[in-house]
Amino acid sequence: MGAVDLKAEAAHVAGQVDALFEQYLADPGDGRDRLFAAMRHAGVGGGKRLRPLLTVATARLFGIAEDRAVRAGTAIEAIHVYSLIHDDLPCMDDDDLRRGKPTVHKAFDEATAVLAGDCFHDLAFEILADPATHEDPFVRSDLVIELARKSGPHGMAGGQVLDLVAEGRQLGMGEITQLQRLKTGALIEYAVEAACIMAKLPPEGRTSYRGYAHDVGLAFQIADDLLDHAGDEEAAGKRLHKDADAGKATFVSLLGEERARQQCAMLVDQAIGHLHGHGEEGDLLRAIARYVNERDR
Ligand code: IPE
Ligand code: IPE
Ligand code: MG
Ligand code: MG
Ligand code: MG
Repeated sequence: MGAVDLKAEAAHVAGQVDALFEQYLADPGDGRDRLFAAMRHAGVGGGKRLRPLLTVATARLFGIAEDRAVRAGTAIEAIHVYSLIHDDLPCMDDDDLRRGKPTVHKAFDEATAVLAGDCFHDLAFEILADPATHEDPFVRSDLVIELARKSGPHGMAGGQVLDLVAEGRQLGMGEITQLQRLKTGALIEYAVEAACIMAKLPPEGRTSYRGYAHDVGLAFQIADDLLDHAGDEEAAGKRLHKDADAGKATFVSLLGEERARQQCAMLVDQAIGHLHGHGEEGDLLRAIARYVNERDR
């Protein structure tokens, strides 16, 4: 234990994600340059890259080549970046700061931001469907189908809708858990699932990894709500204290700060519990789970 250098691992993965985005996002040298600049603004540099890190860490358990895990992780990050660009638009959360920089619609314009988001969505599937991600076309097809499910109305986008319709309403624990599980949990669950798909694990072999990802995903969104409630804007790189103003239903609005913190810590312990079958090769996943509860950004 203690041998894992989470910071170094995260920086290593972040560098690889940046490099892959740069590779796909070179200026074509025509009227589309502004769109590519907007995509690089949103996608290159910044962000914790938690989702690709989860894919790489899980893939390592199964001996999957790292460049392949990075490709799958970058596809998830592309969906995540698209979701952030759109989440920040005036029609959604109307934010002007993201990852310590102006949001895309502020630095560019709304139309460019909508299209940059769309193009990140497309890029995700382009990366997954490429044979460089996996040699087996059935595996690539599974990767694509599952990411489509986790991104669409039964996943992230569905959660965003629930988040919007819940404004100003008091939700119960069940409703808020469903909202958060879709909005944030779905992509985090996919980050782990993608490695299981690439390793061709049978469904019964995936239970503990799914349990881990479920608990980390929920803990991660509780931590996001706690940050919004009591975090530091400078460290977070985005505007905070917005959920209460907007009348957003969050774990903090429901449980209060103290109980939300306890819930987050409990979920992290539970996530780590799912890794009991692993020795020190599971330490990176354990460290990621612990980080979720300690993060300030
Ligand atoms: C923020 O995600 C939005 C949520 C889904 C909670 P992250 O906290 O992962 O944001 P980045 O990628 O580090 O900027
Ligand atoms: C957004 O949740 C989750 C997404 C799917 C983008 P939030 O609206 O709470 O994310 P932040 O706080 O703006 O990063
Ligand atoms: Mg939002
Ligand atoms: Mg937001
Ligand atoms: Mg938030």
